[in-house]
Amino acid sequence: MATERTLSIVKPDAVEKHRIGAIVKMIEDAGLVVKAMRMVHLSRPVAEGFYAVHKARPFFGELVEFMTRGPVVVMALEGDNAIQKYRDLMGATDPAKAAENTIRKAHGANVGENAVHGSDAAETAKNEIAYFFPGHEVF
Ligand code: CMP
Repeated sequence: MATERTLSIVKPDAVEKHRIGAIVKMIEDAGLVVKAMRMVHLSRPVAEGFYAVHKARPFFGELVEFMTRGPVVVMALEGDNAIQKYRDLMGATDPAKAAENTIRKAHGANVGENAVHGSDAAETAKNEIAYFFPGHEVF
């Protein structure tokens, strides 16, 4: 299996609920390795840029409002098949539909406030990691 990297964001709802540690533990217990980590309060332009692909969606305004509400923790994760592995660990976008033992089932509230983000494909992962971390900050 190929070693991959993916971007994880612990979203403002999970940071507010003091779930950073619990989420990082689930990530590490799943065999994913934290290669970069930073806490940041996203500005509106940074959040809009990150979610530009969703600009036309009806929930875009709500999404940006939420993601700028408080600080987030951004991480670059590495491991075998990391992109799909982390998506499986996150669970469905809607926490009500997420499987047992997933981050969103344990820590998400609803489809907007769903605790975590993860890259959806190799190209996205590369771009999303570069959006937050210069190469020398990924260890
Ligand atoms: P994320 O993986 O961060 O990528 C886009 C986000 O949009 C997604 O997680 C959800 O949190 C959010 N999202 C998707 N659908 C809705 C919706 N119907 N209302 C609000 N937010 C949504």
